[in-house]
Amino acid sequence: MNKPIGIFDSGVGGLSVWRHLVKDLPNESVVYFADTANCPYGPKSQPEIIAVVDKVVRFLISKNVKLIVVACNTATAAAIDYLRATYNIPFIGMEPAVKPAALNSKTKSIAVLATEGTFNGKLYIETSQRFASDVDLHIKIGDKLVDIVEKNQINNSETENHVKELMAPLIQKNIDHLVLGCTHYPFLTEVLKKVLPAKVHIIDPAPAVIKQTSKILEENNLLSNNSLKPVYEFYSSGESQVLQSLIFNITNKKYIVKSL
Ligand code: DGL
Repeated sequence: MNKPIGIFDSGVGGLSVWRHLVKDLPNESVVYFADTANCPYGPKSQPEIIAVVDKVVRFLISKNVKLIVVACNTATAAAIDYLRATYNIPFIGMEPAVKPAALNSKTKSIAVLATEGTFNGKLYIETSQRFASDVDLHIKIGDKLVDIVEKNQINNSETENHVKELMAPLIQKNIDHLVLGCTHYPFLTEVLKKVLPAKVHIIDPAPAVIKQTSKILEENNLLSNNSLKPVYEFYSSGESQVLQSLIFNITNKKYIVKSL
């Protein structure tokens, strides 16, 4: 089916999922929405998140999308049940990748880095109870990290110092896996690698989420049979400069972001 896939985040973070989507499903057209005007979602209450996410989803549905990837852990935690109960298309959410981290940990000590909203959600609580019963699971709220990525302040020494401070207590706990539970954080992977011991594996759940997307498209007979070039569209509810420059970093092409 040649309708586009919709994908959204509170801001630029969902591009860390978008890049895997377009790589692994190269025939699919994609509409990306950055809800920059309402970023960050992390500190908002569940009803507040449902209200803003609902608007984004209505917009994407007006663009005739066949499936929506909720490329935001916080929005998944707060709103995925509501979305699935309300709209008649498949929704793919972000899963905290606690299971592979727990299974592969040698030190039996792992950590999840995410927003407050994600840790408050029942998805995180259930996943950690189910898969992390025989490891020590440490949680860390990624204070200021969303803001750093939104402002494209990734490669400066203040950011490195801040990340160092955030990671220090986890290093002390001898973790060997760090799960990135927010789609903004993969853009900080290089900084994280710099400050973490070499033995710490950093897990980005995006490839697994796109694998699931592909499976659901196939099961529902929704895969594109288009032999033409896919079309990529980008929308933002606010500022779009950083979005534009991150898209350029990923694709090496200039795309216009339409501000709504
Ligand atoms: N990228 C987000 C996530 O995966 C949202 C961050 C935020 O808006 O607080 O959780």
